[in-house]
Amino acid sequence: MLVLGVESSCDETGVALYDTDKGLLAEALHTQIDMHRDYGGVVPELASRDHIRRIIPLIDRIMLQAKKNKNELDAVAVTEGPGLAGALLVGTSVAYAIGEALEIPVVGIHHLEGHLLSPLLSPDPPTFPFVALLISGGNTQLIEVQGLGKYKLLGETLDDAIGEAFDKTAQALGKPYPGGPAVSAMAEFGTPKKVNLPRPLLHSHDLDFSFSGLKTAVMNTVKQQTQPLSEEFKNDLSREFVDAVTEVLVVKCVNALKRTKLKTLVVGGGVSANKQIRSALIRACRKIGARAYFPPSNLCTDNGAMIAVAAAAHLRELTEGKLDLQGFQIKPRWTLSAP
Ligand code: KG4
Repeated sequence: MLVLGVESSCDETGVALYDTDKGLLAEALHTQIDMHRDYGGVVPELASRDHIRRIIPLIDRIMLQAKKNKNELDAVAVTEGPGLAGALLVGTSVAYAIGEALEIPVVGIHHLEGHLLSPLLSPDPPTFPFVALLISGGNTQLIEVQGLGKYKLLGETLDDAIGEAFDKTAQALGKPYPGGPAVSAMAEFGTPKKVNLPRPLLHSHDLDFSFSGLKTAVMNTVKQQTQPLSEEFKNDLSREFVDAVTEVLVVKCVNALKRTKLKTLVVGGGVSANKQIRSALIRACRKIGARAYFPPSNLCTDNGAMIAVAAAAHLRELTEGKLDLQGFQIKPRWTLSAP
């Protein structure tokens, strides 16, 4: 089965061609980061207009790359929500137009379900059930996944998302948005414990997170400096920041695995590209006889491949008569645990 995946929920236009037998055939992504940078955040109207400009050429490009014709498509997968309404409308309009023209099903996918199932794109994919940790620019959630569509929220951030804390830390250190990769790179050269930052909710006995206090602590530490920030200080502060978030993630994930008695951890979202977080979670899982799975590094942030692979999993249910295709709609606000 050949599935075209389309993602346009925020500031990335992502498309992909996924073959249920052969895996990912082609994918393309256009990021609008440079366009929004001057405004300090995503401007929704500009995002929608750019998706309109990019989406068809990107689809044509992957068709050509995979040497496939649109008539060979069996289904279209599209992010239906959550996200920016105008941006979502671009992807869904294109997906439903293709679906109508070719008379093939269109499957609306929850953006976070795409992230959660993105490790299925790795050569050694996980199987259900598992605990999912979603760490991105807009989300920090722990979810118990008993099967496809069976998602129970175990804990989430009470304030800022982890990616937001990475981005604000980068900004305080003079790095452009989105600063997660820059903070990760600086942390590799930093010395542990030269700076002190809090580990929020580390001992809270629940599975919730909080990153707003940590972000403020970073800013206060920067403000207290009387000299211009040295590279050494930036590296040390980044190191302490990554150490702090890693410690919290490890404790919460281990507690979630113990509480659910599950042995598999699946990690998704842009922050899952962080090498230090990856290796700490792999080690911690190994210690308790569990195993951690991640998406391929290039597919951690928003992309069309994760939407296609999630739809392919749902389409298997279609053959079993269980999939309810609901028709053209967008859901800018949509909770994953109660779809
Ligand atoms: O999943 P994603 O594209 O965003 C949402 O859908 O929300 O993730 C973007 C986030 C940004 O905050 C970015 O700084 C962060 O992921 N990020 C990283 C790394 N690469 C991207 N954070 C830490 N380490 C990285 N290597």
